Amino acid sequence: MSYFMWLLLSLFLLGGASDNCPCERPELCQPVQKERDFEVFVFDVGGKTWKSYNWSTVTTVAAFGKYDPELMCHAHSMGARLVLKGDVHLADIVDQNNRTAWIKEKVDLAKRQFMDGINLDLEQAVEAESPEYTALTALVKETAEAFHTQIPGSQVSFDVAWSPNCIDKRCYDYISLGKYSDLIFVMSYDEQSQIWGDCIAMANAPLEQTLNGYDQFLKLKIDPKKIVMGIPWYGYDYSCLSLSQEGICSIEKVPFRGAPCSDAAGTQKPYSWIMKQVNSSLTGRLWDSKQKAPYFNYMDNIGQIHQVWYDDPESLCPKANAVMSKGLRGIGMWNGNILDYSSNPVAQQQTAKMWNVLLGC
Ligand SMILES: *[C@@H]1O[C@H](CO)[C@@H](O)[C@H](O)[C@H]1NC(C)=O
Ligand SMILES: *[C@@H]1O[C@H](CO)[C@@H](O)[C@H](O)[C@H]1NC(C)=O
Ligand SMILES: *[C@@H]1O[C@H](CO)[C@@H](O)[C@H](O)[C@H]1NC(C)=O
Repeated sequence: MSYFMWLLLSLFLLGGASDNCPCERPELCQPVQKERDFEVFVFDVGGKTWKSYNWSTVTTVAAFGKYDPELMCHAHSMGARLVLKGDVHLADIVDQNNRTAWIKEKVDLAKRQFMDGINLDLEQAVEAESPEYTALTALVKETAEAFHTQIPGSQVSFDVAWSPNCIDKRCYDYISLGKYSDLIFVMSYDEQSQIWGDCIAMANAPLEQTLNGYDQFLKLKIDPKKIVMGIPWYGYDYSCLSLSQEGICSIEKVPFRGAPCSDAAGTQKPYSWIMKQVNSSLTGRLWDSKQKAPYFNYMDNIGQIHQVWYDDPESLCPKANAVMSKGLRGIGMWNGNILDYSSNPVAQQQTAKMWNVLLGC
């Protein structure tokens, strides 16, 4: 057989699958097939800090940054999936042809980039029984079918708010979303997105409220083995309009989706920033025994008082333990990049603790 014939035959046998494979070993471009019992689902927003992840625990990385072939090869070498980000304006995919075209585009992109599925992150307001409500369910069903058929072993996940109770006006058909997707990623953070009571700074993810959200999903009979708990590796920095003697920080009224007040009054800060700021704070780390969360107050350089609420290994520990006790599929975080991955020994210790608490404590 001539070299040319051999080349043609090889291309035919490989089905073009390893064309342009950027990895050192072509088999690393194969989609990940193996399921692991416990999911550790990491959102990656770009850059190279993924090199410092604890890869012995990571099972899925959702690529929310720019496509990084080096990340794909590395994830595959560690048996971890790399999945696309999927977002589309729901009004545009009520139309079946538009929906099919969108799904095809995503499957083709995933194949071209040797990826292992898609994370659907729509977060749009939807009224129950509206055309968008039906279209969303159809989108998840059809996306899962297309991916599973065309990329064997691929994973289709869907991000939901901390509770299925129309949070942020997301009145989705959660039962069907649970049925058709491989995983539901519950975003147990931004839980003060709609503040109906006193307009004050509170925890990003109070323990009781967080766990109550899972009980609501489980009450809908969503398979616990499809539910991944999402925890925050960030907190909220609020500028206090006033700080009461009891330490209550009242915040500006910023409405959100019908609620008069919201965490949008604050700014999100990464754990790496928080760990530096707490040392130069007015109070040092305080603990709220009702919300089971740490916080502190600091003064900025123009004399304004701030209150910062966040999660650390102590507040995350009972959440991670609940993943085990409720028999959920796993845990994940927004996002993997926002720890301090520098060589500072204090930072290294803090970062290792944040990774290790994912598996419970
Ligand atoms: C199809 O999607 C495009 C955007 O991608 C949008 O402009 C158009 O209105 C949609 N068509 C229908 C019939 O929904
Ligand atoms: C913050 O303070 C703690 C305790 O005082 C100390 O161990 C740690 O090194 C400090 N962290 C940083 C980032 O300076
Ligand atoms: C990575 O995670 C594993 C499993 O939890 C743990 O045993 C190991 O110590 C971690 N590695 C580092 C560098 O923290």
